[in-house]
Amino acid sequence: MTPAQTMLRAATGLNLSKSIVERAIKNRMEQTAAKDHDDYLRQMTPEEMTALVELVVVPESWFYRDPQAFVAMTDFARARLAANNDRLVRILSIPCAGGEEPYTIAMVLTDAGIPPENFMVDAFDISPTCVARAKSGIYGRNAFRAQDLAFRDLHFTSAGDGDYRVNDEIRKQVRFKQGNLLEFDLSTRAGYYDVVFCRNLLIYFDKPTTKAAIEKLSALLMDDGQLFAGYAEVPSFCQHGFSPLSHNQAFGLQKETAAPRKSLHTTRTPAKPPAPKATRSIASPPSLPPSAPAPRPRVAAPAAVKPATAPPAVAANLLAEARRLADLGDIKAAETRCRDHLALHPESAEAYFILGLLNELTNKPKMAEDYWKRCIYLQPDHYEALCHLALLAEANNDASGAAALKARAARIYKRQQAS
Ligand SMILES: C[S@@+](CC[C@H](N)C(=O)[O-])C[C@H]1O[C@@H](n2cnc3c(N)ncnc32)[C@H](O)[C@@H]1O
Repeated sequence: MTPAQTMLRAATGLNLSKSIVERAIKNRMEQTAAKDHDDYLRQMTPEEMTALVELVVVPESWFYRDPQAFVAMTDFARARLAANNDRLVRILSIPCAGGEEPYTIAMVLTDAGIPPENFMVDAFDISPTCVARAKSGIYGRNAFRAQDLAFRDLHFTSAGDGDYRVNDEIRKQVRFKQGNLLEFDLSTRAGYYDVVFCRNLLIYFDKPTTKAAIEKLSALLMDDGQLFAGYAEVPSFCQHGFSPLSHNQAFGLQKETAAPRKSLHTTRTPAKPPAPKATRSIASPPSLPPSAPAPRPRVAAPAAVKPATAPPAVAANLLAEARRLADLGDIKAAETRCRDHLALHPESAEAYFILGLLNELTNKPKMAEDYWKRCIYLQPDHYEALCHLALLAEANNDASGAAALKARAARIYKRQQAS
């Protein structure tokens, strides 16, 4: 790693390539009086570092990004207020980029009828430019990528030139501040937040920084709070004291110390060294409220799958039954159902995926790996199997294998989002 890469990593935590860093330095050298690269680094000031950081961050965000997280968060906030309607639900969005995520939180809770005095959102980002943009509340076309733009008519006012400004009713629910997650002062905010959104940041960190960031986030979150991560970040949280929630495609987590959930895989004793945990419950995901956007469709089975001799409903029931039995703790019976299903559909990727989970639950990581490999052989875009394999590779200290699997999962996710 070059001295400049090391310096930027120390300042941000970001795992940056040499070319990105060099490009940013070249850009800043043109703006300053630095004679050469070394001279530029020697004359580094905190202000110049801030300007340099601006050039390497990825402030990509949009309203209603990965919408299921907002559905799950609303359910959770409602439950909190149902237990005590005098309380304030505190939500943290870090990193908030240009404010799209925290404003979405405020819009969703407002639309759900939650009174403004019952919730507040704190939003932080390392980039002062992002925070200034967020405070201005003015957005162009790029921020409105959701298919349904009814929220724009409801909560924005035209600002001319195709731009829109967030209405004051929503703006006053969010407090923006510049801040680095890795330097977050916990003295006044330990266990302060009911909900934490930390999405699409850890993917840019290396392993030690990811661990440090998760420790900070865990300290900020109440013990019974909920955290929402990016799709590729769930495995990292599972390795550092969190367990996944079953809300479909929300990528929600809770602390392992929180009340045990019914799902079997979160209550088992971890193997030593800890085997990676499932990124979802084996049970079928709960159905969403009618107002919720439809979950991303599951990927269809490969065309090569031959029609079963039994009606498809029978085969599908076998897998549903396998999941139900697994959640009841009857691993053996669940495994039998999977095998019965495979007798009808020898190329069922989902059956192999479940067999992988069952073996993981019974602390047989090698077997689990074999099944997940079969799963992605049959269905190369099986996102969850790829995540589990990435987690296993990490547990086996295969950093480059894990990174390749995560990148592949990320590409698939993006593709599924786009379609
Ligand atoms: C891809 S955006 C994610 C925004 C939003 N959470 C989302 O998912 O749409 C990543 C943001 O992380 C910010 N960032 C990078 N390092 C950070 C750090 N150490 N602390 C806080 N924010 C950071 C960047 O400035 C950038 O705006």
